Amino acid sequence: MATINSSYLKLKAGYLFPEIARRVNTFATNNPDAPIIRLGIGDVTEPLPLACRQAMIKAVEDMGSHESFKGYGPEQGYSWLREKIARHDFEARGCAIEADEIFVSDGSKCDTGNILDIFGNDNTIAVTDPVYPVYVDTNVMAGHTGETNDRGEYGGLVYLPITAENNFTAQIPFEKVDLIYLCFPNNPTGATATREHLAAWVDYARSHGSIIFFDAAYEAFITDPSLPHSIYEIEGARECALEFRSFSKNAGFTGTRCALTVVPKSLKGKAADGSEVSLHSLWNRRQSTKFNGVSYIVQRGAEAVYSEEGQAEVRELVEFYLENATIIRERLTAAGLAVYGGVNAPYVWVKTPHGLSSWDFFDKLLHTCNVVGTPGSGFGAAGEGYFRISAFNSRDNVNEAMRRITEKFKV
Ligand code: MLT
Repeated sequence: MATINSSYLKLKAGYLFPEIARRVNTFATNNPDAPIIRLGIGDVTEPLPLACRQAMIKAVEDMGSHESFKGYGPEQGYSWLREKIARHDFEARGCAIEADEIFVSDGSKCDTGNILDIFGNDNTIAVTDPVYPVYVDTNVMAGHTGETNDRGEYGGLVYLPITAENNFTAQIPFEKVDLIYLCFPNNPTGATATREHLAAWVDYARSHGSIIFFDAAYEAFITDPSLPHSIYEIEGARECALEFRSFSKNAGFTGTRCALTVVPKSLKGKAADGSEVSLHSLWNRRQSTKFNGVSYIVQRGAEAVYSEEGQAEVRELVEFYLENATIIRERLTAAGLAVYGGVNAPYVWVKTPHGLSSWDFFDKLLHTCNVVGTPGSGFGAAGEGYFRISAFNSRDNVNEAMRRITEKFKV
């Protein structure tokens, strides 16, 4: 019999969001008339921008004639899209990122997992706690961890607690770590990082030879002009950080699929013989071998995000979800709950009322209000006693969910 990757057996239960879906589906089957409102997984609800739809329709037509038909595209993405990303997302913010340092992909979730292919198995890895579970689970799958302890923490990982006490920004570690996952605006807490905080991480990484994996999937939700959108706004980041971005949350591409990863050419890792190796070359090699690029049609849709019309529509979408976040914050605060995040971010992080555990609150909310959120403990041990509410939904659903929650859970 063929053997398996036994690291998978170390994984706790199911991946967080399918586990929530399973519980919700069971409830829905037993209560077919329950008017369930889903504020759990951060999945967008509003239609794709017209500019993107029109560009994709045109791209479908391109596929219909010999002159404009496209077969395999470049594995790294079409240059016309990479150029636009470089100019609008980086050059415009003073970041020295070239188009050929941008790798277009089908998602940040995939990239944050796949990136481990080009790193060794002997790195010390730091994650915040709570954290986007993909960072942890993909390291478990890659065999980089031991078993879990009774708090659910995997042996071998360095957990950096982010709590109300440290304003949900992790303390820079005293020990040396090789790979550091940072996500700002943060999933799940909705916290943001100041320029000074990111500069401290860049200093740390450069002086320890560490690499920062900077997940900027929610950067479009930053409205405070003092906050950095990209880690490359910090001097020296080209030498120590790669960055993940996505069209999912700003342009509504969760079902359409397009994202990007920036790997600067100045980024180096160490080979077994001690020599320095370009991470850009390795990632390029990895992508050309294991990936055939994002479809031409979808890349044309993503390109349209950068048109004048596309930019205006994306701004409107982001403002819509941010207004939802404000409603959630204000209504829960007025009901006496302790609320964090939800400003410059689409996630609101709530202290569970009456000392309920995260999963107990999840069950109560589902059964008594028919509202779905995400239990904080699903993001890590330090998330216990918290609950994440996503602002990605219609205005009516957000208002109705807040009405039901505040009626039942006044503190
Ligand atoms: C979330 O709810 O945390 C996100 O939707 C997950 C993701 O983007 O993969």
